[in-house]
Amino acid sequence: MSTTNTGEIRSLAQRHLFPHFTRGQVWADAGFPVIVRGEGCYLYDDGGRRFLDGLAGLFCVNMGHGRSDIPAAATKQMEQLAYWTNWSAAHPASAEAAGLIAGLAPEGLERVFFVNSGSEAVESAIKLARQYHVSRGQAGRTKIIARDMAYHGTTLGALAVTGIPKYKEPFGPLMPGVRHIPHTLGETVLDGGTASDLPSLKALVEVIEEEGPETVAAVFAEPVQNSRGALVPPTGYWQELRSICDRYGILLVSDEVICAYGRLGDWFGSAKYGVTPDLLTFAKGATSGYAPLGGVLVRDDIAESILTSPRSGSFTHGATWGGHPVSTAVAVANLTAMRDEDVLGNVRRLEPYFQAGLDRVRDAHSTVLEWRGTGFFYAVEFTGDRESGRPLTEEQSVDLVRQVMPEAMRRVNLITRPDDRGATMLMLSPPLVADESVLDELLAGVDAVASAVDRHIHG
Ligand SMILES: Cc1ncc(COP(=O)(O)O)c(C=O)c1O
Repeated sequence: MSTTNTGEIRSLAQRHLFPHFTRGQVWADAGFPVIVRGEGCYLYDDGGRRFLDGLAGLFCVNMGHGRSDIPAAATKQMEQLAYWTNWSAAHPASAEAAGLIAGLAPEGLERVFFVNSGSEAVESAIKLARQYHVSRGQAGRTKIIARDMAYHGTTLGALAVTGIPKYKEPFGPLMPGVRHIPHTLGETVLDGGTASDLPSLKALVEVIEEEGPETVAAVFAEPVQNSRGALVPPTGYWQELRSICDRYGILLVSDEVICAYGRLGDWFGSAKYGVTPDLLTFAKGATSGYAPLGGVLVRDDIAESILTSPRSGSFTHGATWGGHPVSTAVAVANLTAMRDEDVLGNVRRLEPYFQAGLDRVRDAHSTVLEWRGTGFFYAVEFTGDRESGRPLTEEQSVDLVRQVMPEAMRRVNLITRPDDRGATMLMLSPPLVADESVLDELLAGVDAVASAVDRHIHG
């Protein structure tokens, strides 16, 4: 690649690279960025222009770009043992990574099943849940309940669990037996009430009763739901979710592909909300994007039940690259650095600073409806006019997401994600190593985007 000039890279990409989730029109445009280098919280394009990475890649580059310790661990592992499996024999890197991750996880989540992505982790969790129930003589428990608008991945099982209709429409029929319940947007526990009064959790109980509890395998939820804009759960929500699942013998799966490894200021999002799930899916931040890795943390007795089941005695699932030595060595280096450098402490210390800046952005712009989120994970939601309650029209929303926001971001050298999944939003999820000055620059960029939105809507 070093012999290819940057103009050629763009045309090679346009000619041969099939993009993920990108409109053909955007890809055909000669102006799409080609990113060639990363350093800390910044990315550099082929013309040497510097951008602030406001989304940590895709919510994953938690430790920042361009480190030397993590690649050194990868190189060492490649030289020593580039490949071995997690089938029938072990190797040191995946054993060490599993021990490290289990040590950081809530008590009881002791086993780690490694895969290569978040979708595969969700796919594996569906299968783990089903096979666990089979191992206990409850083969009728096959159904999954998840939340409206939640994103759980793109492989066909995970896509069935995903609650975003437009992602599913081209691909039916999907895995049957999946129901969706409302998410928690706008929900709060009233004074004197409890989380069991929340309409979303009442709906969960209704769906379980309607389907028959003996047919339900698992409930999937993210600690903070990304799609529909960083939905922070109401007080007591996760405890109630835990207690409903326990009452009906249903497994609780915390999908922490985004929320694990510091994004919310804790090692795991469910731990932040004081609940231990039965299965916990992770990916992204496990390696900070230095290598692909996903996985499922599994409650010890669930793993035991599958591994000692007289019928199969093994989890009937696996992948060539599962627990790859290089990816797991990278995870060990990444998580060790995250721990030693107190990166979670950085997130917690700067959370109020980040939020105060978002308050200022909201107050300065009548098109900002509100911001939501926690830790280093936020959504800024736009509207037509906050004071009068006038919403955006469909056309305005499309213009904002496709043109106004991307152009404003480019003007201020900011890369992040305008999001139209259920509302018009700007997502913010910087590397967890960002300091005050990086956050200042990010907030100034968000302010500039909000000014562009104001101008577009109010003229
Ligand atoms: C909560 C959640 N689950 C699953 C996935 C799928 O992960 P991947 O893109 O690695 O397949 C994502 C991706 O963003 C996610 O946010």
